[in-house]
Amino acid sequence: MKRNFLTVAVLALITACNSPKSIDNEMNRFVDELMGKMTLEEKIGQLNLPSIGFDVTGPILSKGVEEKIEKGLVGGVFNTYTPEAMRKLQELAITKSRLKIPLLFGYDVIHGHKTIFPIPLGLSSSWDTALIRKTARAAALEASADGLNWVFSPMVDIARDPRWGRVSEGAGEDEFLGSAVARAMVVGYQNGDIRDNSSVMACVKHFALYGAAEAGRDYNSVDMSVSKMFNHYLPPYRAAVDAGVATVMTSFNDINGIPATCNKWLLTDLLREQWGFKGVVATDYTAIAELENHGMGNRQEVAALSINAGADMDMVSEYFIDELPALVREGKVSEKTIDDACRRVLEAKYKLGLFEDPYRNVSTERAEREIMSEDKLSLSREAAIKSMVLLKNNGVLPLQKDKRVAFIGPLVKDKRNLIGNWSGAGDWKKAISVWEAIDSSTNSLYALGCNLTDDKALIDKLNPHDGQITLDSKSPQQLIDEAVQVARRADVVVAVLGEPFGMGGEAASRSNIDLLSNQKTLLRALRQTGKPIVLVLMNSRPLTLEWEDENMDAILETWYGGTMAGEAITDVLFGAAEPEGRLTMTFPRNVGQIPVYYNHKNTGRPFDENQKYTSKYLDVANTPLYSFGYGLSYTAFEISPVTLSGNIASVKVTNKGTRTGTETVQLYIRDLVGSSSRPIKQLKGFKKVTLKAGESADVAFEITTDLLSFYNAELKYVAEKGDFEVYIGNSSDTENKAKFTF
Ligand code: NOJ
Repeated sequence: MKRNFLTVAVLALITACNSPKSIDNEMNRFVDELMGKMTLEEKIGQLNLPSIGFDVTGPILSKGVEEKIEKGLVGGVFNTYTPEAMRKLQELAITKSRLKIPLLFGYDVIHGHKTIFPIPLGLSSSWDTALIRKTARAAALEASADGLNWVFSPMVDIARDPRWGRVSEGAGEDEFLGSAVARAMVVGYQNGDIRDNSSVMACVKHFALYGAAEAGRDYNSVDMSVSKMFNHYLPPYRAAVDAGVATVMTSFNDINGIPATCNKWLLTDLLREQWGFKGVVATDYTAIAELENHGMGNRQEVAALSINAGADMDMVSEYFIDELPALVREGKVSEKTIDDACRRVLEAKYKLGLFEDPYRNVSTERAEREIMSEDKLSLSREAAIKSMVLLKNNGVLPLQKDKRVAFIGPLVKDKRNLIGNWSGAGDWKKAISVWEAIDSSTNSLYALGCNLTDDKALIDKLNPHDGQITLDSKSPQQLIDEAVQVARRADVVVAVLGEPFGMGGEAASRSNIDLLSNQKTLLRALRQTGKPIVLVLMNSRPLTLEWEDENMDAILETWYGGTMAGEAITDVLFGAAEPEGRLTMTFPRNVGQIPVYYNHKNTGRPFDENQKYTSKYLDVANTPLYSFGYGLSYTAFEISPVTLSGNIASVKVTNKGTRTGTETVQLYIRDLVGSSSRPIKQLKGFKKVTLKAGESADVAFEITTDLLSFYNAELKYVAEKGDFEVYIGNSSDTENKAKFTF
């Protein structure tokens, strides 16, 4: 069909009007006009991000928030959700404030909003980025229906120290996998267009290097070489920025002496100028006020330092609204700096469509329809299954239905812990416990066996924060005796143990990462019965499990699996589903090995058992207990030697067992000679393949120049000519390799 001139012109006009450029022009016109009407105080008001509503994660509670909203002194709030609560506050902004600028509504939606998915460390163990994207999408659907337009996720801090409680919130130790997870989550939350009412703004955090806190103690200092920073710690933040993340949250720590929240190099030179980030930078909770403790100056000085460094929104401190007006008048902060920050906040609101519909079509009907819908619950169950890592199995798993199983331990009937830490709006009462999920036709017995912990000092720290740890009226010895009796009547014991959820997450570092001592005492007593024991673990970090590895018949790491954890665990225990997770963080043998991670350097004296003067310990092996990428299946896979053809490396994977199973095929590369010393191996690709018993599949990876590149000593991203090794296997321990020259 021929188009006449007019049709073509109209089509061109429509296309032009919808092009990103014209949308930007429209936005600029709108924001210019609005800012033209704003007083300095109102502009600074947009930079204020107080907490009002349900939770707090710091010592200061924002006060008088509603009055401040009416005065135009609030840009966004967090910790308020539900359609009614959101509407109430948004109405204040829209009807009472002079310029009727709508509010942002943020919240810590970390691994689901109401339907809770496994903790992020668990989710990353699925190595399934499509699944992870779907969980973020489901969280966005629920959160947006519940009045939120901003989630404080993903947390992408690389972590090599399992003492740090917040390892539970991230994707583990590796930058390649961490970057893939970061992208998946940003795409899941934002869905390509935050204007869509079912999308939310994502917030990548904690920028930067928060996971490298010295000694694994939360909030501690970070001192790091630029090579480590650029090659290992920064890539996941960069991946989130490249995926279009709308916002960034600063971290609490200092970086080589300059706290992130007032670090101009970090927030402006690197993030905005080099990486091209155009969105909003919010600080973490009271992080501006904490700059005083960091020794950066008094209230006025730290407020000026932070805004001048590139922070846009002040979470909870309120130093911006208190101090910035005078600082501008005194010339210590330029009006342009305030305008730029305010513009970025208004642009975010514009892009969310808040100026057209400040309520984003939120209603109780929509919330009811979205929240905990069947499809989300089944996604949660699938995610919990795929996150579990089978650490040991001498054949006792899967359990046979005709066997009498004794379920023993304080987490068998527990619900509170299943949804883990940072489960914000999640309702643990809606979780299904392991006991509830057990098929009633099975022959199962139960005993409590022990309390979660008998350590009163620990309970006193956890219970004020909703720990819900209770002590049974029976003595620890009585509980053990009872459990031993029950175990004797069974064919196999399933001990469900782990950390109370409050031992992970923020401000929850540990110096000893063993199983709690009373739980270990129970396991020793059960061991005496001679019955096979399956240890099912719920915990938020790698633990030191040498004794358990020697003495248990099977160990299933389930993390905190979320709302459907109980069902997922029984699915895997009884063989209705396969465990297919692989570790994303190394499990050390003891805390003295920390930091222990797979992509370390070779040293000049790599370990050699025949040589004294080589890099080693006298009292423990260099190797971890369970390596990055490790995990067993119910079936057995064989991976052929690596073949190289041009830049394609491939293997044949065969399922040699008797059941269908899924293998995670991992590609690692070693740069044998470089201008800097290079890691002994780095993950550069992974593919999951599901095979029936006896089936084979070819798995191929393209070795691109990018996969060979790294930041050299001048911080140039280069691929250097020379010899490389390519490894393909099912864990970072693999020695299945081939050599090539680039
Ligand atoms: C402090 C935490 O570090 C951060 O992750 C969280 O998003 C904020 N509190 C808001 O709750």
